[in-house]
Amino acid sequence: MKAVVYKGPHDMVLQKVPDAKIEKATDVLVKITTTNICGSDLHMYEGRTNMEPGRILGHENLGTVIEIGSAVDRVKLGDRVCMPFNISCGFCENCERGLTGFCLTTNPGNAGAAYGFAGMGPYSGGQAELLRVPYADFNCLVLPPDAEEKENDYVMLSDIFPTGYHATELAGVQAGDSVVIYGAGPVGLMAAYSAIIKGAGKVMVVDMHKDRLALAEKIGAITVDDSDGSGVEQVMALTGGQGADRGCECVGYQCCDHQGREVPNLTMNNLVKTVRPTGGIGVVGVFIPEDPHAKDKLAKQGRIAFDLGQFWIKGQHIGTGQANVKAYNRKLCKLIAEGKAKPSFIISHKLPLDRAVEAYKNFDARKDGWTKVVLKPGH
Ligand SMILES: NC(=O)c1ccc[n+]([C@@H]2O[C@H](COP(=O)([O-])OP(=O)(O)OC[C@H]3O[C@@H](n4cnc5c(N)ncnc54)[C@H](O)[C@@H]3O)[C@@H](O)[C@H]2O)c1
Ligand SMILES: [Zn+2]
Ligand SMILES: [Zn+2]
Repeated sequence: MKAVVYKGPHDMVLQKVPDAKIEKATDVLVKITTTNICGSDLHMYEGRTNMEPGRILGHENLGTVIEIGSAVDRVKLGDRVCMPFNISCGFCENCERGLTGFCLTTNPGNAGAAYGFAGMGPYSGGQAELLRVPYADFNCLVLPPDAEEKENDYVMLSDIFPTGYHATELAGVQAGDSVVIYGAGPVGLMAAYSAIIKGAGKVMVVDMHKDRLALAEKIGAITVDDSDGSGVEQVMALTGGQGADRGCECVGYQCCDHQGREVPNLTMNNLVKTVRPTGGIGVVGVFIPEDPHAKDKLAKQGRIAFDLGQFWIKGQHIGTGQANVKAYNRKLCKLIAEGKAKPSFIISHKLPLDRAVEAYKNFDARKDGWTKVVLKPGH
């Protein structure tokens, strides 16, 4: 099969690899029809993780089931399915509690597994023609009859729509709340969309990229252009000097100041500044335990200088981590099926898998107009 293989920093290659296949009786084999590039892939692409060369990336996957393991009960041949990026077992203590992003058995010694992801187990990704799906009865979301027609919406259930929603849950967003979101990448836009769906009173999205902010505006958010470094002041002005009720971090450890310099503690401390006393902060942007290629000495050890004193005095609370996609994907799927949500609005490029290398380059450069890329193997 053809697959997108990570060779090293800034070096992705489309090549022929052995076909993915069923390895355990509980697996299914999926023919991928849509697979996305994610901001999380970029941490790997830029060489800022310990991703092993030779691995296939891709954790935002949708396709058709073409082969079924002998112990699979529920999923049927021909089903159109969307897979959470998390690979989870369904029977460990964390999975039982709905915390499938922290499965204790699929990546032994760690909590949480994913397709084609650094540090999250040996599983191959879906930027390929075929994908092996472990514990398929648990992991596959079988899509409604309009799956083909709304494929570009449903594929967002694999990660960023539930992840954006998770950010708002961690922050505690409720109807009427004011919410500030750092990052207008796909995840930040989905957090803004989720906050709006939940009935937030005022949603503010901070970024420097005008094309991304324009999408935030399109769904009814207030845009905060930080290209002159005034984002914090703008948010304070928009909230009458109080700060927002809730805040979401949707950038992660590679966040930058308005001059494009990496300042790893910037968004976290900006959240402490711009969320009101006793407000909630949800952090879905990725922070990693060590980052040897960081310029900053603390960041190399996976640490940041966090304004704990301000955070404590303000009595804020914080929630972090990978999204438990299964906790939300079925409900969000119903919103799409009922025509109440259309997360495909963020897509800028629908490209054949053969153009993945070029897509990585442009999405990584945050080139104007490259807001989200979906890849179509078989086209
Ligand atoms: N927790 C999870 O389950 C989960 C799932 C998916 C993605 N992620 C992570 O979420 C983060 C965002 O993903 P994405 O796909 O949207 O990535 P992205 O890189 O496309 O978007 C990040 C955006 O943040 C902006 N940004 C940078 N510095 C900023 C700052 N100081 N203030 C405001 N905005 C700033 C950038 O301009 C960019 O538009 C990444 O760290 C990704 O790994 C986490
Ligand atoms: Zn992703
Ligand atoms: Zn589990």
